[in-house]
Amino acid sequence: MGLSIRPNGKSMTAMAFVLINLMMMGKMAVSLGINYGQIADNLPQPEKVVPLVKSLGATKVKLYDADPKVLKAFANTGIELMVTLGNECLAQMAKDGKLALEWVRKNVQYYLPHSNITTILIGNEVLTYNDTSLTSSLVPTMANIHGALQTLQLDHQVSVTTAHNLAILQSSYPPSSGEFRQDLAPILTQILNFHAKTGSPFLINAYPYFAYKANPKQVSLDFVLFQPNQGILDTDSNLRYDNMLFAQIDAVYAAMGESFNKKVQIQVSETGWPSKGDEDEAGANPDNAKKYNGNLIKIISQKRGTPMKPGCDLNIFVFALFNENMKPGPTSERNYGLFKPDGTPAYSLGIPTVQAVGNLTAGPAITTTNTAAPPASPSSTGYLSISSAKYLPLLTTANCSFILLNAN
Ligand SMILES: *[C@@H]1O[C@H](CO)[C@@H](O)[C@H](O)[C@H]1NC(C)=O
Ligand SMILES: *[C@@H]1O[C@H](CO)[C@@H](O)[C@H](O)[C@H]1NC(C)=O
Ligand SMILES: *[C@@H]1O[C@H](CO)[C@@H](O)[C@H](O)[C@H]1NC(C)=O
Ligand SMILES: *[C@@H]1O[C@H](CO)[C@@H](O)[C@H](O)[C@H]1NC(C)=O
Repeated sequence: MGLSIRPNGKSMTAMAFVLINLMMMGKMAVSLGINYGQIADNLPQPEKVVPLVKSLGATKVKLYDADPKVLKAFANTGIELMVTLGNECLAQMAKDGKLALEWVRKNVQYYLPHSNITTILIGNEVLTYNDTSLTSSLVPTMANIHGALQTLQLDHQVSVTTAHNLAILQSSYPPSSGEFRQDLAPILTQILNFHAKTGSPFLINAYPYFAYKANPKQVSLDFVLFQPNQGILDTDSNLRYDNMLFAQIDAVYAAMGESFNKKVQIQVSETGWPSKGDEDEAGANPDNAKKYNGNLIKIISQKRGTPMKPGCDLNIFVFALFNENMKPGPTSERNYGLFKPDGTPAYSLGIPTVQAVGNLTAGPAITTTNTAAPPASPSSTGYLSISSAKYLPLLTTANCSFILLNAN
């Protein structure tokens, strides 16, 4: 390959490398996922949502249900789908393997292969509700749904997992000292055994925003927003962290312990930053949201992994596609969207989106600028906590039987 074409080789070679990197980026599928929440009364029809997802260069969409309209709209688009069996259904499914089989038939098998459902999430943030009956239903439901997939010979193409709130950690700083809440350790061991046996990933919903909001005077905004900063040194592992999300991921790897963290991959099923919040919600504004999500998308494309797992592909789902006007809780909860309900961007992401709708090969045009190259700092700064509990909506007590009526 004729890279240095001119005598003054150095800078030309460097330029050629940058160009080649950019070209390779374009071809490589950037594994960006996006959460498609629908707690709103003003969202566009799912068919209109497909081009928005494509404009981000996202290749995966995660749902909080198995909405048939969405599954149909994303058929034959090349986009992978993750569906969720809601928390309200766990009690029934845990006890009834036949019901689990029927659910998988009607909500998953029926849509394959045109709608590319690759993952079933069993509930969302189940463990941090501290609801013993819900908690005790989780592993049996995961087993029943996996069993149903085996019966239907779909277990090699569809995996089973669940998403955890980062509050499953009792210790998260420094990352190498990460530890699960003691009362949850036994069930997390069962869940990790399930993942190790079936090859499915461990999912966490990780929000540096909550740590910042809880402690804006102590937590560096640059550190949480992936902006250039000196980083923090974990003096136990001697690993340096230049952003909080990576510290959070590695705290979970540490909590898993050696026996599991070699076998089970962590994926970030939700992360994001609100573009609006209440007066007491520090940092919730469009500028910070743009930095967080824009920088995050660049970092995903660099495939650099976390300090504990360098080079590992980061599977990250941004929260969320739309602002959702009917979500309860503080103002920030209704303002995580990259898009407004009318399909216009909530703010500029600072990355050119793909213009040609329907052209997934292009992906977002991403630059290779390293946003965070911290110089050595003499000592680590005193971050007290890198995790902070997220707002949990009330558990619904909806009748779960309707989900069996989906297919017809
Ligand atoms: C579905 O997604 C998986 C994982 O990316 C991929 O291997 C498979 O080819 C896709 N299937 C279809 C029908 O597009
Ligand atoms: C759940 O229990 C833990 C540990 O006892 C506690 O720290 C946490 O605040 C509780 N969460 C909720 C939502 O009640
Ligand atoms: C998709 O985009 C790529 C890269 O820009 C381009 O080479 C290709 O021709 C496009 N394909 C279609 C079908 O527009
Ligand atoms: C749930 O709905 C089904 C169908 O409408 C009904 O037969 C069943 O009794 C309901 N169960 C509960 C617990 O309300």
